[in-house]
Amino acid sequence: MSINVKRPNGTEDILPKDVHRWHTVEKIARDTAESFGFSEIRIPTFENTELFQRSVGETTDVVQKEMYTVMAKETKFTLRPEGTAGTIRAMLQNGLLNEALPQRVFYILSCFRHERPQAGRLREFHQFGLEMAGSASPSADAEVISLAKSILDRLGLKNIELYINSIGCPVCRAKYHEALRSYFENRKDKLCDTCLERLGKNPMRILDCKSPVCQEVAKDAPVILDYLCEECSEHFDKLKKYLGNFGIDYKVNPKIVRGLDYYTKTVFEFVTTEIGAQGTVCGGGRYDGLIEQLGGQKVPALGFAMGIERLLLVMDKQNCEYLTPRKCDIYFATMGDNALEKAMDISHKLREYGYRAEFDLMGRGIKAQMKYANKIGAMFTVVIGDNELETGKVKIKDMETGSEVETDLDDTFRMNFESLYFNKMMNNLDDEEKFDLK
Ligand code: HAM
Repeated sequence: MSINVKRPNGTEDILPKDVHRWHTVEKIARDTAESFGFSEIRIPTFENTELFQRSVGETTDVVQKEMYTVMAKETKFTLRPEGTAGTIRAMLQNGLLNEALPQRVFYILSCFRHERPQAGRLREFHQFGLEMAGSASPSADAEVISLAKSILDRLGLKNIELYINSIGCPVCRAKYHEALRSYFENRKDKLCDTCLERLGKNPMRILDCKSPVCQEVAKDAPVILDYLCEECSEHFDKLKKYLGNFGIDYKVNPKIVRGLDYYTKTVFEFVTTEIGAQGTVCGGGRYDGLIEQLGGQKVPALGFAMGIERLLLVMDKQNCEYLTPRKCDIYFATMGDNALEKAMDISHKLREYGYRAEFDLMGRGIKAQMKYANKIGAMFTVVIGDNELETGKVKIKDMETGSEVETDLDDTFRMNFESLYFNKMMNNLDDEEKFDLK
């Protein structure tokens, strides 16, 4: 079928048949974050453009090339390209940083970046992310990284490498910028126009340029680790020690600078080689200057975000398990109006007890109704016709085994169904799960 208007390039529809994959990631990420003391925050989809210019940074690709900005009346708004800026804005605006520290929040949200779409790179994508504000200690860095690792492990992901780096503080960064500037000054003729502009304003951004020519020029550029001040160096050493204590494998990669300007000290990425060029499933780091920059006190903070589409690509590739979507618990196949009314009545009652009950809404014949029940994966079915209404007795059929149990169609129906349902649930649990229930 051809339709007139299709979805924009770089966006995706998440269909009912796939939504359990999303629920799996969201549930595991949410449960893990909560077990580390994080609570959910929900922030607006768009913010004043200035927020991103001042936090993500004027010289980043995100701000320079990728933001969806609209002029609404007199004000410029931008669809959030990421979650950190809005979250910190919300924390400041709502006084969360005046409460007990550290403040720990997580979010599940859509982000918008006008990038060239490819596998794992979308224009609207989704992040699970979190931010912790208040701790300057490297133990917080280790905590946040181990939280990310726990989520990846609980999702069942394998072969994900953790890369860490330190990009220092404004003190060591100033010296490093000088070194970078003199390196790139001598190779200026090869840089793209955007990088020429970055050379004056923020030479570290050249290291992050997507142009292959600039990447080649940047290959032998000085690395920040050689310029770290004592404090940053000690912070990084302690982080490495804590990660070691947690038994978390990592590689120091001095090339990681991250594409956003707010970072200081620790930066990290979890990367897989199994889904092509867009293999970074999680990125994050510390940003000790951002809160002050946005008008708050000097409060250190850090966090990360995972791209949910990328996580799902890897999970599919590695055949990870998803939560089983719950289907129809009981389907009533009916013949005639009186039977339909009875089915409607019982279904409503069962739903109040949390069961997924369905009956025919299409006026189908009994055979077609049973075919439909099969198609939607109904666990039990009940046929109600004149005979059943007259005798007040129906058979509850287990669609998997074909076995049938006769029961009354009165107020005892729910209890009888419930006991069949629980027996079946117990039989479906494996021994280990039964042991957990004891
Ligand atoms: P980011 O590295 O820009 O960091 O994005 C985090 C993750 O979002 C990436 O590692 C990737 O998995 C996913 N992602 C980014 N762009 C796309 C895209 N176009 N399509 C699909 N997935 C994408 C941040 O956004 C920071 N706010 C993370 C952070 C939180 N740092 C501290 N706190």
